[in-house]
Amino acid sequence: MRIAVVGVGHVGLVTAACMADLGHEVVGMDDDAAKIASLRVGSVPFYEPGLPELLRAGVDAGLVRFTDETADAVPGAQVVFICVGTPRREDGSPNLSYVQAAAASVATHATGPVVVAEKSTVPVRTGERIRQALRLEAQARGDDLGHEVVSNPEFLKEGTAVADTLRPDRVVVGADSAGAHAAMRALYEPLLERHPCPYVATDVRTAELIKHASNAFLATKISFINAVARICELAGADVHTVADAMGHDARIGRAFLNAGLGYGGSCFPKDVEAFVHIAAELGYDFGLLRETDRINREAKQWPLGQLRRLLWNVADKQIAVLGVAFKPGTDDVRDAPALDVIDAVIADGARVRLHDPVALDGVRDRYPDAVFCDKAEDALRDAHAVVVCTEWDEYRAIAPQRLAELLVYPVVVDARAVWDHDALVAAGLTVATVGRPTDAAAQS
Ligand code: UGA
Repeated sequence: MRIAVVGVGHVGLVTAACMADLGHEVVGMDDDAAKIASLRVGSVPFYEPGLPELLRAGVDAGLVRFTDETADAVPGAQVVFICVGTPRREDGSPNLSYVQAAAASVATHATGPVVVAEKSTVPVRTGERIRQALRLEAQARGDDLGHEVVSNPEFLKEGTAVADTLRPDRVVVGADSAGAHAAMRALYEPLLERHPCPYVATDVRTAELIKHASNAFLATKISFINAVARICELAGADVHTVADAMGHDARIGRAFLNAGLGYGGSCFPKDVEAFVHIAAELGYDFGLLRETDRINREAKQWPLGQLRRLLWNVADKQIAVLGVAFKPGTDDVRDAPALDVIDAVIADGARVRLHDPVALDGVRDRYPDAVFCDKAEDALRDAHAVVVCTEWDEYRAIAPQRLAELLVYPVVVDARAVWDHDALVAAGLTVATVGRPTDAAAQS
């Protein structure tokens, strides 16, 4: 099939590459001309394992090309994926003006009926607004080609985006006509042949809600275990064993029960707020999600509290921060919990020594006075304490004895539980591990 992808950020680019891998003919469009120019020479503007190779294969097979003109991308396309950004407004609602503009430009440039597929995460009932934008534009140009709107949410995670897209747990398609459902089914048939998985065909509103409900539920799981972590610290229990044991219950599952620094990234924080907002607009107070968000903000303050407890005055100390990416496997620092930690530590008057294997470039401008370190050991050397903010594997490999040698004061705040708490204590370090008893609780 012939496909256009409008907006080639993380979701759009992965969608383009994967659709080409399935044998479809794809044009990726973005009005950021510099991004398109670099994509044309094969450069992917962010870190996503496997994506550059997949895109190159698509380009070499003549199935993928890029343009910065909607007029070049849309004519002839049977399905247009809208993958533009939906940035957060001050009040927590998503700004949908890019979605509206993308929809209108599809109607302006289409030469035949198009299935317009929402992939950007949008509040329930956005499909109706897209339909309205298409209709207004059709009226303006004097011919209604009969475009359809579908919701086809993605569930890809950064770092495993290609595998998540080509081998998904499920495909969700919301459409309000048999024709649109048939087109989307044809689009996904090659994927389902390769990787049989549940295919949920529903209406547009339900599909939109599935996406928000899924992300909000996962975020709530994380906040739940972070709340339990606080109780474990106070009670003298171990949240990681609690999570493992809970996870053995198939009804609960172990995934997304890692207590830590809370969730970040471009999705969960924004989507939780947006879901609360749309629920309120519809007349429902989603108090559970407001609490999920509150616990998450609290989780990000945990390291500063521990530094104050263990160092007394944080001012004038050097604090090593290991990891700035919002999770391992990505160079994305959008809404990264590490930023809250670094901001708080700097506000307390400390100097930070930062390390991340791939994400440091994303924070250089934000922290002009920080020491940027190419190696984790350089960040640790001369620091009075270390805070682990991202659970990169390479940090797990640092031996407790080596930490004790490098740090000026032997203070470790392990907000992602990368190290064995007992081994650190045995090596003579003063340790706060998320979800493990504080000294006072351990001794009582
Ligand atoms: C998330 C969802 O997992 C995807 O299914 C969804 O498609 C995507 O948002 C989206 O809406 O586009 P992503 O933001 O890439 O994917 O990252 P996750 O792996 O979900 O992690 C989100 C945050 O939760 C990270 O900061 C991570 O460190 C944190 N997390 C995750 C925990 O603190 N504990 C856990 O147990 C799991």
